[in-house]
Amino acid sequence: MVSSATKRPFFLSLLIGLIISTLSYILQPLQPFQSIAHRGASFYAPENTMAAFQKAVDLDFDFIEFDVRLSKDGQLVVIHDADVQRTTNGVGYIGDLTVQEIKMLDAGSWFSPEFSQERIPLLEEVLKQFGGKIGLLIEMKSSENQPQLTQRLSDTLMEYIDNGLKPSTLKVQSFNVKEMKRFHELSPTISSGLLFEKPLNIFHFADYRKFAAFLSVNHHLLSNSIIHEAKRYGFDIYSWTIKKQYQFQMMQRFGVNGIISDEECKKPLKFTTTSTGTLKK
Ligand code: G3P
Ligand code: CA
Repeated sequence: MVSSATKRPFFLSLLIGLIISTLSYILQPLQPFQSIAHRGASFYAPENTMAAFQKAVDLDFDFIEFDVRLSKDGQLVVIHDADVQRTTNGVGYIGDLTVQEIKMLDAGSWFSPEFSQERIPLLEEVLKQFGGKIGLLIEMKSSENQPQLTQRLSDTLMEYIDNGLKPSTLKVQSFNVKEMKRFHELSPTISSGLLFEKPLNIFHFADYRKFAAFLSVNHHLLSNSIIHEAKRYGFDIYSWTIKKQYQFQMMQRFGVNGIISDEECKKPLKFTTTSTGTLKK
C-alpha cells in the first residue's frame, strides 16, 4: 500500500511542473501579426459578401480571406460552399448555375434581414472595390473538380497586377497541393500558400517550400516545435479560424505571422510597421 508520505513528493513535483509550464507560457512575449478577416468580417455581416469585406476595411483588418469557385459559364465567383443552399435563398451547385442565375439570389437574409440586398460577388467586383484598399487572401476551392479555375484565377490576378495592383497585396492558398504548385508556376510573383486541417508532415516541408511561401494551419494543429520547424524552412505561418478572444493571445505567443479570424482582436497591442507589411496596431 502507498502511504500518504510517499504520495506527497509526487504531487509536489507535479505542482511545480504545472507552475513552471504556466509561467513559461505567460512569459512568452506576444508577437505582432497580420489580421485576416475570415470570409470577410463574418461575425458582423454575411460571409463572403461585399458587406463583410467593407466591415473588415472599417475594422482595420490587414487582409480579407475569401473563397472562389467557377460558375457554369466560367466566371470566378466568391462563395465558400459548393452549393448555394446554406448562404442564399436558392438551391443548386455553383458549377451548375450561370452568373445571371447566381446574381438573382439573396446572399444576406440568412444572416439578418438588414442584409437582404447582398448578392454573391464576382472576384472581379471584389478586385475593383477592394484591390489596393486591403490585402486579399484568396482560397481556391474545389480546383480538383474545376482545374481551369487555377488558370482563370492566375490570368485575372496577373491582369490586375499589369494594371498596377501591387503583388504584395495578394495571396492565394488552397488545400490542393498540385493546383497550388501549378498556380505558383503560372504566377510566381504572387505569394502562394498551402492549407492544412490534418497534422503536418515536416518531411514534406522542403518540397512545399519550392512553391509555397506560407502555411495556413488549423490552430488546433499548431505547437511551438512545428512552428519552429516551419520557420526554419522560411515559411510564414497563418492560423485559422480564431473565434474566441483568448485564442488571439495563444496565437501571438506562438508567434504566427497571420491570424485568420471571424472578428477582430479586441485587445490589440501597439506594434510598429515592419518590412513584412502592416502589422496589427
Ligand atoms: O483560411 C482558412 C480557412 O478559410 C479554411 O477553411 O472552410 O473556412 O475555407 P474554410
Ligand atoms: Ca476559406
